Amino acid sequence: MKKDILILAIESSCDETCCAIVKNGREVLSNVIYSQIDIHKAYGGVVPEIASRNHILKIDEVVDTAIKEANITLNDIDAIAVTYGAGLVGALLVGVSYAKALAFALNKPLVKVNHIAGHISANYVAHKELEPPYIGLIVSGGHTLIIEVKDYLNHELIGTTVDDAVGEAFDKVARVVGLSYPGGPNVDRLSKNGKNIIPLKIKFNESDGYNVSYSGLKTAVINYVHTLEQKGESVNKEDLCLSFTKSALDILITKSILACKEKGLNKLSIGGGVAANDYLRENLQKACDKENITLYLPPKKLCTDNAVMIGVRGYYNYINNVDIADNKLNAVPNLSF
Ligand code: KG4
Ligand code: ZN
Repeated sequence: MKKDILILAIESSCDETCCAIVKNGREVLSNVIYSQIDIHKAYGGVVPEIASRNHILKIDEVVDTAIKEANITLNDIDAIAVTYGAGLVGALLVGVSYAKALAFALNKPLVKVNHIAGHISANYVAHKELEPPYIGLIVSGGHTLIIEVKDYLNHELIGTTVDDAVGEAFDKVARVVGLSYPGGPNVDRLSKNGKNIIPLKIKFNESDGYNVSYSGLKTAVINYVHTLEQKGESVNKEDLCLSFTKSALDILITKSILACKEKGLNKLSIGGGVAANDYLRENLQKACDKENITLYLPPKKLCTDNAVMIGVRGYYNYINNVDIADNKLNAVPNLSF
């Protein structure tokens, strides 16, 4: 009988200290996430140095809890997977150093994982039937990517943002309307009570292909708020949040459906923090239904940063003998996809 493969995965690229145990790349035995949101809220965003220090304080406990919850021992683990980029250098280094030390102490293989490749892989545990090829839409705080996922390891980037990432735009707009960090979920919440659409123009040229741009939309929101303020009028935050959300996300819905059609693929999988957005989830589903495209949505807990997705990708790297690292592994903060 084939032996099960257990991956212990660590993710610490931003403000979440995460450890998960993943079985055969498809089953979650534990998923522990320590979020630092409450700590960074006071500063209106993630403070890198504070994030690194808190990862150091928490990582031992997070790993211990993941092992206990999975009901295994360290010896049962086949390999250790870790995010080595992209992300905040100090934050990444905590996870990378911990993983290197653990791999050395246990004499087990160390597998390096690209954070974005992790986000793409989250749906493999949520939808056991999902197999490449398909179109992937990754929407996070640092990335906005339309990807042709050719197989478990090979992906081709076909579209991206030319300026801000979509999550970054959500966070900036939240700040403009006075909502606390993290902005995305707060804009999502307020937008549900929006009734009127304020016309916010977003640049969209056929020649952009699958690329998108958010700096113009962000400026449109800022200008709209300033104009009302100068006139002494108040901003209807709900309407503005809905209007921004619609402008920011409709374009991604259109382009990812177009990618499916042009590439002849009838499967679309989404991931990253903004994939937790209800407007996106509902409207992408409707658009996919219309075009007979099967949409794979991860549960919200697997949209934002977690170590399960790193364990899944780590599994596929491990069984294919790809991206096996050693104790020279370093963090790569601007690792490209
Ligand atoms: O994937 P993620 O947790 O971290 C990165 O890799 O960046 O994504 C975080 C981003 C933040 O910009 C956050 O505001 C956004 O995802 N986000 C959302 C929602 N939940 C998180 N944006 C819109 N609606 C949401 N419900
Ligand atoms: Zn992420």
